[in-house]
Amino acid sequence: MALGRSGGVILPSFTFPATLGAVLQAGMQPVLADVNAQTWELDVPALEAAKRACAMPIAAVLGVRTFGLCRDWTAVQEWCDLHDVPFLLDSAAALGGTLVTGAAAGSQGRMETFSLHATKVFAVGEGGAIACEAHDVALLKRVMNFGLQDGQLMGWGFNGKLSEFTAAVGIAQNRILDEHLAVRRTAAGHYAEWMRRDAAAWRMAIDPGDAPWQAWPMLAPNAEIADRFELAAADLQVQTRRYYRPALHTCNSLQAYAFGQSLPNATALAERMVCLPMYSRWGPGELDALLARLHEAMTIVHA
Ligand SMILES: Cc1ncc(COP(=O)(O)O)c(C=O)c1O
Repeated sequence: MALGRSGGVILPSFTFPATLGAVLQAGMQPVLADVNAQTWELDVPALEAAKRACAMPIAAVLGVRTFGLCRDWTAVQEWCDLHDVPFLLDSAAALGGTLVTGAAAGSQGRMETFSLHATKVFAVGEGGAIACEAHDVALLKRVMNFGLQDGQLMGWGFNGKLSEFTAAVGIAQNRILDEHLAVRRTAAGHYAEWMRRDAAAWRMAIDPGDAPWQAWPMLAPNAEIADRFELAAADLQVQTRRYYRPALHTCNSLQAYAFGQSLPNATALAERMVCLPMYSRWGPGELDALLARLHEAMTIVHA
């Protein structure tokens, strides 16, 4: 909305529904694309296929840093530059992350958006943040202030302001962010070690950079094993989440946004992904106890 574009926006089908909701709320046309089976994210062949399928002018590309993983999106940026299309990133779960290149999450694309929801590492309750160049700040402020700028109505907008109270929670969060990131990264290391030991047939994220680890994603060898593991873990009082299921194009009401593409990688990933809990604070022995239960759940599933 801030960029005043209209038309098609390519986004991955393997994402949280809010990514698609944002496109619709901006009055634009979602064009769902497949994701790469290895990286779980949009790539250039998926963009090409989506562009061909929808046969309409593309007004923007909206990538997603899947699970807040911190990969380098230069190849997609280059495709967007070539096609003269703005590249935006939904980096909802990536705030505090460092990319594989050493740059901070928030440094790619024309704008990167972060969620500050209670489930995120930097949580204020409800709210968000956008990283962009200084010259885009006025445009963003305008659309988040009912379209008003310096008292003049410049176009359509909405109320997207963060309340002072919520912002104050953010100041407090900022003081403890580094400590919380360190705790999560250590726990991620333990999860990785556990997977190498107990879940060799499953896949962990490749090239995640220094992600903030909102959760620990792991890909089951097939959908049936994912379902059985979810149930076995629940029986042992371990709550898992099936982000991002279902793939958006598999919902009847959203199918049309795939423009006839079957998007097989998004379909399969959504059925096979299981996310494990992650915390910024663990009680004494809590992570070890959790890993012991996960060991038990894996033993039941693969018996
Ligand atoms: C990829 C993605 N985009 C958007 C959102 C929505 O963020 P919020 O709850 O702050 O609106 C989420 C929430 O988890 C998400 O995972």
